[in-house]
This record gives sequence, C-alpha cells and structure tokens, in this order.
Amino acid sequence: MPAIVVVGAQWGDEGKGKVVDLLAERSDVVARYQGGNNAGHTIVAGDEVYKLHLIPSGILYPDTMCIIGNGVVVDPGVLCSEITALEGRGVDVSRLRLSGNAHLIMPYHVMLDRATERRLGKFSIGTTGRGIGPCYVDKAARLGIRAQDLLDPGILVRKLEIALETKNELLERMYDLPRLDPGVVAAEILPHAERLRPYIADTALLIDVALREGRHVLFEGAQGTMLDIDHGTYPFVTSSNPVAGAACTGAGVGPTRIDQVLGVAKAYATRVGEGPFPTELDDEDGRRMTERGNEFGTTTGRQRRCGWIDLVALRYAVRLSGITQLALTKLDVLSGFERVRLCVAYETREEERIEEFPYNQTVFHGCRPLLEDMPGWTEDLSGCRNLEDLPPRARGYVDAISGAVGVPITLIGTGQGRHQVIDRVEI
Ligand code: IMP
Repeated sequence: MPAIVVVGAQWGDEGKGKVVDLLAERSDVVARYQGGNNAGHTIVAGDEVYKLHLIPSGILYPDTMCIIGNGVVVDPGVLCSEITALEGRGVDVSRLRLSGNAHLIMPYHVMLDRATERRLGKFSIGTTGRGIGPCYVDKAARLGIRAQDLLDPGILVRKLEIALETKNELLERMYDLPRLDPGVVAAEILPHAERLRPYIADTALLIDVALREGRHVLFEGAQGTMLDIDHGTYPFVTSSNPVAGAACTGAGVGPTRIDQVLGVAKAYATRVGEGPFPTELDDEDGRRMTERGNEFGTTTGRQRRCGWIDLVALRYAVRLSGITQLALTKLDVLSGFERVRLCVAYETREEERIEEFPYNQTVFHGCRPLLEDMPGWTEDLSGCRNLEDLPPRARGYVDAISGAVGVPITLIGTGQGRHQVIDRVEI
C-alpha cells in the first residue's frame, strides 16, 4: 500500500497526530496537504511531549522525509520556531522539505483575521486567529507571497508592495489599524528566508520519485471533513479542503496514485469555534468528556465543545473522502459512562427523520439528533492491545460504529501514550 491519505472525519482534533505518528514509523514520506498553524497536535513519546503545528509528526523518526505541501499556508516565523525547538531537543530536521509553491502567512493576514472576527462580533466564526483565511484569500486573488519568493528578495519586496496597496486601505480605513510598510515587512521576513532556504524544494517531484521507487507515502490532512470549505458547515469552516481529494492538489499527486484513505474519528465528537453541532452536550456527560478527554485545543487552548458520536456526519465523511478504513481514537475516555449514545439519524424541524447529511444550511441548523443507547463499560482500556482485549460492551460499541458507517475500524485509541492502541492497519 504505497500511498495512504489520513483524513479527519469529524470537526478536527480527532487525534490525527497520534495516528500519523504511528503510521509514520512505517512510511518513507509524510506530506501535509492543507491548512496551516491553525492545526496542532500533541505527541506523547515516552516522557517527552511534542506540540507541533506545521511540521508533520513523522519528523520524530530518523528516516522519514517530512513534506509541507503546496496546499499548506505557512507562517515563516512559526515554522522557524518549530525547527529551532525540535533541533534544541536533538531532533534531526534535515529531512524536512517545504514546497516552493506553498503560500506564506504574512503579518497583515494575522491582523486581518483578527480584525474581521472583531468586526463580525456575534456572527464571528471563532477562527484560530492565525491568518489562515486571509492568506487563502490572497492565494485565490493571486496576490499571495509564496515560499519560493523568499529566495529572491527583489521579487519579495515588489510582491509585498502590490499586496499592501489594497491591504493598507483595508487596515487603515476599515479597521483603524496602522498601515504597513513593504520594506519593513520584508525586513521582518527575510531573516526567516535564510533559515528556510535549505528546506525549499519541488516537493511534488519528490513525492513522485518516492512513489515510483515503491516507497510508502502518507498524506496528512489537517482539521476535518465538517470544517471543509466546500463540504463542511459553511460558513463555520476553515478556508481549505481537509477532505482526502485535496491531497491531490495540495501535495501535487494524481488521484490514481492513492491507494487507501484512513479516516480518523474520536469515539465521541468535539468541535471548537462557532457553528452547528447537533449532538453537543451541555450536561454532566459533556463535562466528563471534556475532563477525561482533556478537550482543550493544542493551538488556542480553547475548551472544545463535546457531544455523542454523530454517525450521520461520520457516514458523510466516509462518502466524501472515500474512506476505506477508520481509526477510532480515545475510546478509553468513554470508560465509566453508564450508557453510551450514538446519533443514528437527524430529525428536521418538520419532524422528518433523515439519515443523509443535509446539504441545506437552514435544514441542518434545525436538526436534532436521534440517539440510540448502548450499555456502557467500566473497565480501564489502557492495557488493551488487541480487539480481543476489549470488554464486550466496548467491542459492541466499536462494531456498531463500524457497521453503521460501512468500513472496518483498524485502529483504536486506548490511552494517551504513543503505543496505547489496538493497531491492525496494514501499510
Ligand atoms: P481558521 O482555520 O483559523 O480560519 O478557523 C476556522 C474554524 O475552523 C474555526 O471554527 C476553528 O476553531 C476551526 N479550526 C481550525 N483549525 C482547527 C483544528 O485544527 N482543529 C479544530 N478546529 C479547527
């Protein structure tokens, strides 16, 4: 299985970092294809805890090449800090490659992201404030600055001048913020240029070579299906496409070369930021999930909203990304619940039962979850390494999810540690 996409099947924060970390050990190349430092994952490796936002977690293995693909938006300061921090802990970062076509998040993108959110007030999206949306806006408007521009300071300044012509009007007139001088912005960015120069490459070509040599390539998605700009709960979404198909455009690889899609879903559901979330809980069960699951964002530290697993949304994710197998993370968090609940369908405002995710925002906003109960289990799962080790009720829960979405569950998270998993993925 030379090429596999790992994709979030819910609202992000499904635990993709840990799954990618595990599979990276068996991969020759790990390539991220969208998003930016709005993502974040925590890897617990022995006593060491690593928090990464841009660099794929494969970097912790000595032989894995890690690629930041063209579809990712990169804050050069954040990337430099991550490289420095990893090097400071003795991690060899020389296997990192950054696509020359990746767009860079500039200081004005961060300013505009935060100013727009302030202006939206109670209609705000709840973005991470990292400049992601405005950077993708500039990419589409063909006003973006790309990693390759760092290699030519003359071009960099000229592009900054053009981009800032309109940005300065916006900053000053609309948001009452100071104008930015292209020379000053360039002077801020150029020290990063020297630092990043050795990593900038034609990453689509590197992936092609790896695949032709029969190597294993893992494409790592950030966020999740329900945050996809086309298929998610628009406008409460991120500004890129987390779905698996975006691995093709975001890493520069044809769809015929991808063999498997591994979806990652939590055993329950969480969401950060604003937007509809049918199974959300505002009760003791929800608080327990937050506490036991430590549901606070790696990037912003915000408390995540928690709820029961949503099988309607999960089936939608399976369909949209062509998911062939599923990883179910954090099953251990549900130990001790008297009963566990699964959303099997929605009921619309008109009291119609629907099992397909509704395309219409108004319909979706009015949906309430139809829940089915299963008996809970009290056993601690942290020592389970095989399916047979799971208590029967936990196993029943896993089988119910797998049956409802129609794909096998090949990986189950049973604890925080790197190897606290039941792992049946073949790669
Ligand atoms: P942005 O990506 O910062 O523009 O934020 C848009 C929406 O996506 C907000 O609701 C964020 O909370 C959410 N979001 C962005 N990145 C992540 C992530 O990695 N995990 C979960 N939610 C995210």
